[in-house]
Amino acid sequence: MLFVHRVENLTPGIYAYLRDPAAGDEWKAAMRSEFLWEQTHEGLFLLVPIDAGRIANRLSCDQDIAEDGFFGLAMLARFEEPLRERGEWFYRRLFWECGLIGQVLYLEAEAAGGRATGIGCYYDDPVHELLGLSGHAWQSLYHFSMGVPVEDTRLTTEPGYPWEEERTR
Ligand SMILES: Cc1cc2nc3c(=O)[nH]c(=O)nc-3n(C[C@H](O)[C@H](O)[C@H](O)COP(=O)(O)O)c2cc1C
Repeated sequence: MLFVHRVENLTPGIYAYLRDPAAGDEWKAAMRSEFLWEQTHEGLFLLVPIDAGRIANRLSCDQDIAEDGFFGLAMLARFEEPLRERGEWFYRRLFWECGLIGQVLYLEAEAAGGRATGIGCYYDDPVHELLGLSGHAWQSLYHFSMGVPVEDTRLTTEPGYPWEEERTR
C-alpha cells in the first residue's frame, strides 16, 4: 500500500498496489469496507483521498522521511498461510523478497533523478489497524520512501580500514 504525497496527476491519499491482480478480491474482503477501490492505473487503486503525510510519518516510527517525499509505502505479504504451508524458513524468504523490491525501488529512484530510503522502523499493528486487517493473514514487512534527497551535513565519512587510511594520506 502506498501513501501518495506529491505525485503529479495523482490525488494524494492511501492507495493499494497489487503485484498480483488475483489478490484484489482477497484484499477487498480483508480490508475496511469503506475503502473506495477506485482504479487509477493498472494495478493501482485509490482507497482514501487524504493528506496521509502525518499518518505515514507516525506509522514509520515518527520519521519525517516517510512524509516529506513523493510517496511512501508499506509492503504487505500473505503471512500465516504460507508460513504454515511452507515452514518457518519462509519468514526469511518473505523479507528477502521485500528487500529485492526495495533494491528495485532504490535503482528506479536514482534513475528518475530522485532518491529512496528503506524504512525498517515502523509500527506494524497500527498499519494493520489503518487498513482494517485483523489476525495474521497479512503482515506489513517493510516500509519505503521515495523523494528528493536532503544532504545530512552532520554525517562525516571516516576511512574504515587501514588500507583506506593509506590512500587518503
Ligand atoms: C532494511 C533497511 C531498513 C532501513 N530503515 C531505515 C529507517 O527506518 N530509517 C532511516 O532513516 N533509514 C533507514 N534505512 C536507510 C539506512 O539508514 C541507510 O541506508 C544508511 O543510512 C545509508 O548509510 P550508508 O550510506 O553509510 O550505507 C534502512 C535501510 C535498509 C536497507
